[in-house]
Amino acid sequence: MQRIVKILLVFFVSLQFHVAFAGEGMWIPLLLKSLNEKEMQNMGMKMTAEDIYSVNKGSLKDAIVHFGGFCTSELVSSNGLLLTNHHCGYGQIQSHTTLENNYIRDGFWAKSMDQELPNPGLTATFIVRIKDVTEAALNGVKDKMDEKTRQSTIDLNLEQIKATTRLAAQEEISIKPFYKGNQYFMFVTMTYRDVRLVGAPPEMIGKFGSDTDNWVWPRHTGDFAFFRIYADENNMPADYSPDNKPYQPKHYLPISLDGVAEDDFTLVFGFPGRTNEYLPSYAVEQTVEVLNPAKIAIRDRALKIVDAAMRADPQVKIQYASKFARIANYWKKWIGESQGLKQTNGIGKKQDYEAKFEKKLTDNKKLKKKYGHLLPKFKELYTEIEPYALTHDYYNEVVFRNVELLRVANYMTRLVGQFENNGEAGYDNYKGRLANYLKGFYKDYRPEIDRKVFGALFEMYDKNIPIQNVSSPIKQLLTQRNMKSYDDIATNIYENSYFTSMGGVERVFAMDVATAIEKIKNDPAYSFIKSVSEAFNTHAEKEYNRINDEINTLMRSYMQAQMDVFPKKRFYPDANSTMRVTYGKVDGYNARDAVRYMPVTYLEGVMEKYVPGDYEFDVPKKLQELYHAKDYGQYAADNGKIPICFIGTNHTTGGNSGSPAIDAHGNLIGLNFDRAWEGTMSDMNYDASICRNIMVDVRYILFIVDKYAGASNLIDEMKLVHPKKK
Ligand code: ARG
Ligand code: ASP
Repeated sequence: MQRIVKILLVFFVSLQFHVAFAGEGMWIPLLLKSLNEKEMQNMGMKMTAEDIYSVNKGSLKDAIVHFGGFCTSELVSSNGLLLTNHHCGYGQIQSHTTLENNYIRDGFWAKSMDQELPNPGLTATFIVRIKDVTEAALNGVKDKMDEKTRQSTIDLNLEQIKATTRLAAQEEISIKPFYKGNQYFMFVTMTYRDVRLVGAPPEMIGKFGSDTDNWVWPRHTGDFAFFRIYADENNMPADYSPDNKPYQPKHYLPISLDGVAEDDFTLVFGFPGRTNEYLPSYAVEQTVEVLNPAKIAIRDRALKIVDAAMRADPQVKIQYASKFARIANYWKKWIGESQGLKQTNGIGKKQDYEAKFEKKLTDNKKLKKKYGHLLPKFKELYTEIEPYALTHDYYNEVVFRNVELLRVANYMTRLVGQFENNGEAGYDNYKGRLANYLKGFYKDYRPEIDRKVFGALFEMYDKNIPIQNVSSPIKQLLTQRNMKSYDDIATNIYENSYFTSMGGVERVFAMDVATAIEKIKNDPAYSFIKSVSEAFNTHAEKEYNRINDEINTLMRSYMQAQMDVFPKKRFYPDANSTMRVTYGKVDGYNARDAVRYMPVTYLEGVMEKYVPGDYEFDVPKKLQELYHAKDYGQYAADNGKIPICFIGTNHTTGGNSGSPAIDAHGNLIGLNFDRAWEGTMSDMNYDASICRNIMVDVRYILFIVDKYAGASNLIDEMKLVHPKKK
């Protein structure tokens, strides 16, 4: 009898475990065997942890490549062919685009390897191996140490680890803190430096839906591009050379033609950038109630001004398209994030969790003594930091992100710094690089638009920043100089600054150093940013940093506390741009009352959204013809339709763009590129009910490559398989 009870108990516990899991977590590949393998197999995975990450044999990890340090990509052929998102390769595609060869508008397809286009500066990084170095990193670190001593002890330890780790040629090491500094992992990497553009669809496919559809499900974007890694004759990293050869990988992903169905297991492998899942409720509340609304309002104001200008003038539309997209991307994300947290009661859930935490402490004297102070102290610190955090965000958004002239002024400040620290040589060197950069900048710059943004945002800055002294330079301009409005300040600066055009900058750069430095220092944009940032640093940033350091120290302790207090809970570390595995299943979701979304979109949906001539929703003629002729080749789904995108419960974030979606057997089924808007709060509080990642169905990619672009050379290179229809 007892045995039966026991068996039943095990059954129910594992059943509960099985049901409870739905996709949360970004796991360290090295630890899959101990933490995840069983569960993944329960969910339908047919691989072992060793198939995903191994240092002894070729494994999935050998096909996963950090693209330029900001996106993910994966190998899809034995000749170094690399797949990533169109929006990840956008800068490269743009850099090869001219009026005659408009690759953004028309797409680009190298019909043979000698047509592939080199991209100086673009890198492709592999993870050779991962090692837990916590013990060595924290050697000699004591609980009671002050932060400075602790950090310098760790720094010395890390130097030691680096010095004693044996590396093969061209291998490099990076060691990063995990779990808020409670653990350290070492990554041995190898970076290739010759990465060439192979193919990209026209923007009407690769960026279909543009900003309107960004962060939106249902989605119909073919957000993909192909690159190729080149290596020297020994298959090792080398600078660009026409003699380089296509890289021969240890592993590349076969591509499944059998597609996905609801509930299918999916694995997303890549380099997520930053998440914050273990914050106390006070921090989340502050983000939702105070910081996000402020940042959204600032961008709202700026975007409206730019949008009006773009609508009024087609030239401006081209010049500001990519800047607008960048500002709009996180503006939209923050709105979704706040909304999702409210909709799922994210703050309430954090509070419940904290109540459980406190209850456990009450039941255990030792833990209470060690961790009892944490939550009350957080409450105090978050209250204390609020005005500083708000000011910090205001400054960043207004001074650094949205007023373009101040970006130039900031570079000029650095130029002056170069002169003061490194003399004329330093000045000349920086000036050369700056002039180069600014040529590109001014090509797409309209001072009359920027001036309006300046006036509008500094009005908000002056009126809304809670620490009065921070905006004293603006108040002074308004009173002492007798300027009546923020627009007057703007006009005064923009009319008298050298930095509103390349011509102005060139005039200054043509002067001898001493005169140039004097002109820069007397420039109204330069003096403005100087006084504004001094006021900010003195009255806000110092205090902000002090409190923030305290919060970070406390956070390290709180992370450890959560692991001690809930020893049975599995904790995954926050994203930190290191290699992670996330897994879940193909699944729709209930977006709001009475609205349930299906998990797959089809070419029919592209045609439903089609607006002839529109800059977001136009559809290339050739694609329409293929649609009407139903000329789908081997790429249609079982229902005879061409699938475009699908969603799943995989826990992803910025940096996961370009990550492969992999099936139960290790084949490529899709390409990650976005998340559904309602669930963008997954960065702070993943909730399986609405958090979904968006992937392009790989069959749409193949269909476009083959039927639309006629790039059969690429199809021939890839390995297409039928895992479901054996
Ligand atoms: N939201 C996606 C990400 O955060 C895609 C951004 C690029 N697309 C765009 N329309 N801005 O990167
Ligand atoms: N679009 C993001 C990226 O570029 C992915 C995301 O935030 O879900 O990495």
